[in-house]
Amino acid sequence: MNITFDGKTVIVTGAAHGFGRTIAEAFASRGATVHACDINEAGLSETVRLCGSKARGHVLDVGNRAATQMVMAEIEAASGSIDVLVNNAGGVRGQVGRPIEEISEEDWQTIFDVNLSGAFFMAQAVAPAMKRQKSGRIVNISSGAGLGISLTGIQAYASAKAGQIGLTRQLAHELGPWNITVNNVAPGFVRSNPTTERQWEAMGKDGQERLMQNIALKRLGKPDDIASMVMFFASDYAGWISGQVISVDGGK
Ligand SMILES: NC(=O)c1ccc[n+]([C@@H]2O[C@H](COP(=O)([O-])OP(=O)(O)OC[C@H]3O[C@@H](n4cnc5c(N)ncnc54)[C@H](O)[C@@H]3O)[C@@H](O)[C@H]2O)c1
Repeated sequence: MNITFDGKTVIVTGAAHGFGRTIAEAFASRGATVHACDINEAGLSETVRLCGSKARGHVLDVGNRAATQMVMAEIEAASGSIDVLVNNAGGVRGQVGRPIEEISEEDWQTIFDVNLSGAFFMAQAVAPAMKRQKSGRIVNISSGAGLGISLTGIQAYASAKAGQIGLTRQLAHELGPWNITVNNVAPGFVRSNPTTERQWEAMGKDGQERLMQNIALKRLGKPDDIASMVMFFASDYAGWISGQVISVDGGK
């Protein structure tokens, strides 16, 4: 299966680091013009450098609806189309699992802003362009925590990711008549950033061994494993697949 994106305009959020950077590089290496969006300016510059001369970086907080509308309108005006949106920005915003009584309104809201509202605002911002083209691909990155429970016990994270999976199904039906597919990748635990490194260390030897034994393939995943599934959902090969969530977790 030879997947290429020559001539396509692709938006990847949370592209300054981790999965987002790997996904951006995977699209760029297959010919796409990648627009990398993130709040981390230094990380964005590095991603753009790795993606090559066609790539562009945009400092963008996906939780800011007005900003998402503005940046997506600029990209459409400059490119003439928006073909693919990958809603990857997310994570636990530096939080750790704590008892329900200790969670402030801000702790709860911050995680929702990036993981759920951000995916909604970005989809809202690209939908008019995709409808005009009568084609588009939206791929949301959720988590095993959205299908089951969060390994770290963060209530807002499990809830926001479950909500994002619901949003995927709903938008698939709403946007399907315009030949826009909306799908979801639910990654298992991957050591992709300082937060997941800390979580890995905190598990201790026994916890790490238990985690590994619960994975059918007996290895942890890599950002490339996640990017491969995104490439498929974004490709022509997935033209009759919508509203689906695929676990990329080595098998549970
Ligand atoms: N690593 C894992 O084990 C794992 C497992 C399941 C799901 N995920 C999900 O995969 C996605 C990527 O995870 P990662 O491990 O690569 O994380 P990461 O922390 O390495 O990267 C996330 C990126 O999102 C950016 N970001 C955060 N808030 C933002 C905002 N408001 N607007 C724009 N950008 C913002 C960060 O600056 C960062 O560059 C996240 O949605 C995460 O929840 C990760």
